[in-house]
Amino acid sequence: MSTPRVYVIHENPEWFPPLAAAFAAEGVPVQEVLLTEGQIDLGAEPEPGVYWSRMSASSHTRGHEHSKEYTRAVLGWLERAGRTVVGGSHVLELEVSKVAQHGLLQAAGFDVPRTSAVFGTAPLKEAARTFTGGQDVPFITKHNQGGKGLGVRRFDSLAEFDAYVDSPEFEAPVDGITLLQEYLTAREPFITRAEFVGGEFVYAVRVDTSAGSFELCPADACEVPQVIAGAVCDVPGVEAPGAPAAFSLREEVTSEHPLVQRLRTFLADQGIQIAGVEFMETTDGRTVVYDINTNTNYNPAVEAVAPVSGPRAIARFTGALLERDHAVAAV
Ligand SMILES: Nc1ncnc2c1ncn2[C@@H]1O[C@H](COP(=O)(O)OP(=O)(O)OP(=O)(O)O)[C@@H](O)[C@H]1O
Ligand SMILES: [Mg+2]
Repeated sequence: MSTPRVYVIHENPEWFPPLAAAFAAEGVPVQEVLLTEGQIDLGAEPEPGVYWSRMSASSHTRGHEHSKEYTRAVLGWLERAGRTVVGGSHVLELEVSKVAQHGLLQAAGFDVPRTSAVFGTAPLKEAARTFTGGQDVPFITKHNQGGKGLGVRRFDSLAEFDAYVDSPEFEAPVDGITLLQEYLTAREPFITRAEFVGGEFVYAVRVDTSAGSFELCPADACEVPQVIAGAVCDVPGVEAPGAPAAFSLREEVTSEHPLVQRLRTFLADQGIQIAGVEFMETTDGRTVVYDINTNTNYNPAVEAVAPVSGPRAIARFTGALLERDHAVAAV
């Protein structure tokens, strides 16, 4: 048995360095577990420690189409062995399903975008007619298993949608489920992402969605064209040269903000310890919650000015769980 530590389960090594630095700064022992391959002995006890899964819904876009399944297997094994898991099985199921996110948010009484889930490609065109009532009203598509704006596109007419579905450009969702969603018009061109760690609000990030500022993510690790402005790139902080800063701290959204308080309660009720929740304030006065990210990344520009650091908060939170379980003094 090795010394107890915090194990970080993920599949993209590029995301680890800022986390490793934060754990080092907090004096919490950490080790990454890259679940792109591997092995577990089902008759053995998992190593002592705290396990944090930040498996990404977009893992398949990095050639790791089975990492989600590996994580399902590992999390079940850890949970059955009684290990403390942050971002456990129920959180993974939420991360990989916008249908599930929508359902939980709706049941909790949040204003959510009107959405239809379409199974398979064949029914899409007919489903769009049902969804829009046969009218040419704007709507968007997105993939159920999303992340980094996968499959997020706006359509203004049924003819435009039909042409897309029939074209080679059509992006099939990895799980076969496409969402049709009402198009929301932001009152001002930004969305907000509220970050929570260990049940506490960390800060809110304002993400600029003005046209063109984020049409193509320039990060090497993120090669999916951002066909709708405002998709929060998987590698935040990498912005087009000369582009206005897409990410900034939204200071007026504090822990006292009514929506933040409701989200805090919601996350506690659902046992979600680490998440970035996105919402949009619309022209018709709605505040619509549409995305729960449980493998959140933190933007360096925001981190530089924020009163609290996201990764440092995670290191402290998981470090405290480690001490609780193993009475390990911070090294
Ligand atoms: N219903 C909507 N109407 C208008 N714009 C939307 C709508 N839903 C999403 N968007 C825009 O598209 C972006 C990406 O959508 P969403 O967050 O649902 O996808 P995602 O795949 O989870 O992306 P990410 O990983 O970047 O958060 C949003 O941040 C927002 O700017
Ligand atoms: Mg999002």
